[in-house]
Amino acid sequence: MRIAMVGSGYVGLVSGACLADFGHEVCCIDNDAAKIEPLRKGKMPIYEPGLADLVMSNVRQNRLSFSTDLAEPVRQAETVFIAVGTPSRRGDGHADLSYVYRAAREIGAAIDGFTVVVTKSTVPVGTGDEVERIIREVRPEADFAVVSNPEFLREGAAISDFKRPDRIVIGLEDSRAEHVMREVYRPLYLNQAPMLITNRRSSELTKYAANAFLATKIGFINEIADLCEQVGADVQDVARGIGLDNRIGRKFLHAGPGYGGSCFPKDTQALIKTAQDHGAPVRIVETVAATNDQRKRAMARRIIAACGGQVRGKTIALLGLTFKPNTDDMRESPAIAIVTALQDAGAKINAFDPVGMEQARLYLDRLHYCADPYACCEGAAALVIVTEWDAFRALDLTRVKSLLASPVLVDLRNIYDPAEVRRQGFEYASVGRR
Ligand SMILES: NC(=O)c1ccc[n+]([C@@H]2O[C@H](COP(=O)([O-])OP(=O)(O)OC[C@H]3O[C@@H](n4cnc5c(N)ncnc54)[C@H](O)[C@@H]3O)[C@@H](O)[C@H]2O)c1
Repeated sequence: MRIAMVGSGYVGLVSGACLADFGHEVCCIDNDAAKIEPLRKGKMPIYEPGLADLVMSNVRQNRLSFSTDLAEPVRQAETVFIAVGTPSRRGDGHADLSYVYRAAREIGAAIDGFTVVVTKSTVPVGTGDEVERIIREVRPEADFAVVSNPEFLREGAAISDFKRPDRIVIGLEDSRAEHVMREVYRPLYLNQAPMLITNRRSSELTKYAANAFLATKIGFINEIADLCEQVGADVQDVARGIGLDNRIGRKFLHAGPGYGGSCFPKDTQALIKTAQDHGAPVRIVETVAATNDQRKRAMARRIIAACGGQVRGKTIALLGLTFKPNTDDMRESPAIAIVTALQDAGAKINAFDPVGMEQARLYLDRLHYCADPYACCEGAAALVIVTEWDAFRALDLTRVKSLLASPVLVDLRNIYDPAEVRRQGFEYASVGRR
């Protein structure tokens, strides 16, 4: 099948490469030449484990190509995916749908013959109706169906998530599209990935409900962590104790500095706005979003407390800047709020991240970027682990201690054993544990 992927960011590029790997002929399109030019030379515009090999092998087999021009690949395609960004709209928190609508207009002008237009971007309920209206307005005579097919991949594990999804959700109003979508995902169907076919609005809402639920799990365990600290309990044991109940499940019960990333913060906000507009407010999600926002800056206060109550003129060493390991994505990373709050309090920041430092420069000023974790520690009043990259799990603590100005370790991801770290002479603070 010929597929055009409009938008070649984290989702579009991974989805396009995986669909090509299934045997389809895919053109990944982006109007940002800074993404497409490097791709043509075999350079990935994002960091995602395994992506470069997957892209290059499909390019070599002529199943994957790249373009800044939408018209020709869309004209040739039977299926056109929209995978452009839907960031928070400035000012009100609604999803900014201008990229989706612009893509819809351009697609409408280009399609030829029966075409299934699939919204893979995360979009509020009713967006499919508007995409359909726009295409109809641009091309009254066009033969097309608009489908919702939200993406559930996680950055850092995106390829395996796409190829072995928990489920594929497809929302459609035109039954002709069902056959086409089954063809697109046939290799996964053979792997018995559950496919939920529903109406378009249910599909659109499923994505937001999923992200809001996961964000709620994180928000919940973070509040339990705060309570653990007050009552002398250990949040990791509590999380395990509840997570072994199948009705609850063990995932997303890791206490930490609050969720970030390109999805949870904006998607919870967008759901809150949609729900308010429809007179059915999601109060639980409103609370989760508000407490999560406060939590990120609260982590800076925790660091300041660990440094004896003030950090003016002191250097703080931060390990990990991206919102989670195995990605270079800095969007809404807790590190941003933590760094800003520490700088506001007068601290200087040494920082190291295995792949995120280039992106971090776009979000953070006045950081001293270091070549490795140990260079980061030199002369610092405290070492803070913000993101749990594997490379930080087995630091040489003797060396760390010898480099720090004072032996303070603040572990916001609970990756070290408190007793062991204290035995090595550190003052140790973590989350939800004594
Ligand atoms: N990143 C994730 O982990 C993830 C997971 C699931 C769903 N999503 C959703 O998928 C969508 C895309 O997210 P992303 O992280 O890939 O975004 P991104 O910002 O990395 O990529 C979007 C790309 O679309 C391009 N674009 C915008 N308008 C265009 C147009 N008219 N023509 C061609 N290209 C255009 C941009 O240049 C950009 O490269 C969002 O709605 C997001 O919520 C993201």
